[in-house]
Amino acid sequence: MSLLIKNGRIIDPANNVDEVADLLVEEGKIAAVCRNLPLAPEYEIIDATGQLVIPGLIDMHTHLREPGYEYKETIKTGTMAASAGGFTTICCMPNTRPVNDSQSVTEFIINKAKTEGFVNVLPVGAITKGSEGAEISEMAELKDAGCVAVSDDGKPVMNSLVMRRAMEYAKMLQLPVISHSEDLSLTEDGVMNEGFVSTELGLRGIPDASEDVMVARDILLAELTGAHVHIAHISTRGAVDIVRRAKQRGINVTAETCPHYLILTDEAVRGYNTNAKMKPPLRTLKDVKAVREGLKDATIDAVSTDHAPHSQEEKEREFDYAPFGIIGLETAFSLVLQLVEQGELTLRDLIIRMSVRPAEILGIQRGNLKQGSVADITIVNPNTTWVVESESIHSKSKNTPFAGWKMKGKVSFTIVGGRVVYNG
Ligand code: DOR
Ligand code: ZN
Repeated sequence: MSLLIKNGRIIDPANNVDEVADLLVEEGKIAAVCRNLPLAPEYEIIDATGQLVIPGLIDMHTHLREPGYEYKETIKTGTMAASAGGFTTICCMPNTRPVNDSQSVTEFIINKAKTEGFVNVLPVGAITKGSEGAEISEMAELKDAGCVAVSDDGKPVMNSLVMRRAMEYAKMLQLPVISHSEDLSLTEDGVMNEGFVSTELGLRGIPDASEDVMVARDILLAELTGAHVHIAHISTRGAVDIVRRAKQRGINVTAETCPHYLILTDEAVRGYNTNAKMKPPLRTLKDVKAVREGLKDATIDAVSTDHAPHSQEEKEREFDYAPFGIIGLETAFSLVLQLVEQGELTLRDLIIRMSVRPAEILGIQRGNLKQGSVADITIVNPNTTWVVESESIHSKSKNTPFAGWKMKGKVSFTIVGGRVVYNG
């Protein structure tokens, strides 16, 4: 089956392409990119006039919840949400039940994703057994089974010696270590950002330092060990600053933030909105500005979603008791596009942060539209507006602070390995 994508604006930053042209897909690969490709009767045709044709988005940070928490999300529903959001590849975090600290869980995920999934799924294995922070996992086994990185996401590795040893192993195996940077002794039982709003609401706060201290520690350990540390979900001005200086010093560090840290502040928590509760917490305007600046100057390499589905029952609890996390796969692209509309990011840089760099960081042959590459492609109508409505969310969970928001820019097709997996 051949697929011809006609007359779209093809933006392929990895190959310095930005032009209106046709793109031909044959046998799951990109066969040609050029103007006025001749039609053949057997072609399936997508008219992409007025639309953007870009490398499939890659999310380095998704929680798929299967195995163990299928009531929140499954591999099937999570990858369906990913496809609707324009993602062709997602990395799933290991905080499932059981934790993905073994070959068998990794293989379960990979097999399930092959049979039921809509997009490519790359598992992230645990740094420590059970993500309990004590004993290092069998990382070689995890890598052999298909894990592309290690992380205890959801929790930090509090013991610095354990993290040092973990980085030494990960370096040997050339696996990035994804740091959920949080000092639990500073977080204590905080539930939102520590500041003016938390004081007004009478909620216990999480200080910036809880994040910044751990970002600094893990960067220092990366310097010591030579491992590649990837800082997850940056939310503070301090963390951006520490990563920027570490990069200047040549330390092997990369970083990501999430759309909500670029768009929202802790003001969103007012009304005790549990859909604005996540870790790290929403911060303040100074942080949003700094995170935007970090994204612009490439201190922050990638935008990930930290898609963290939770059931309605769980999120309807009192603020203190509701779980941390929000869904994000289906709103990520449109939210980052707001920055482009506001002149704070170029379209090219958006694609770099949401596809090109994630592919480079993970060491996968994706994130480009070169002839011969796997045809993972996203087609977007940049001018279509839509409203975030829970009925139209593909994820099993609906915990988003963006419900009711009017968005601009809509994914119209998601193509994985040459196959249309989403047609919106
Ligand atoms: O808000 C969060 N939710 N932050 C995390 O680090 C984990 C995630 C989850 O698994 O729910
Ligand atoms: Zn995390």
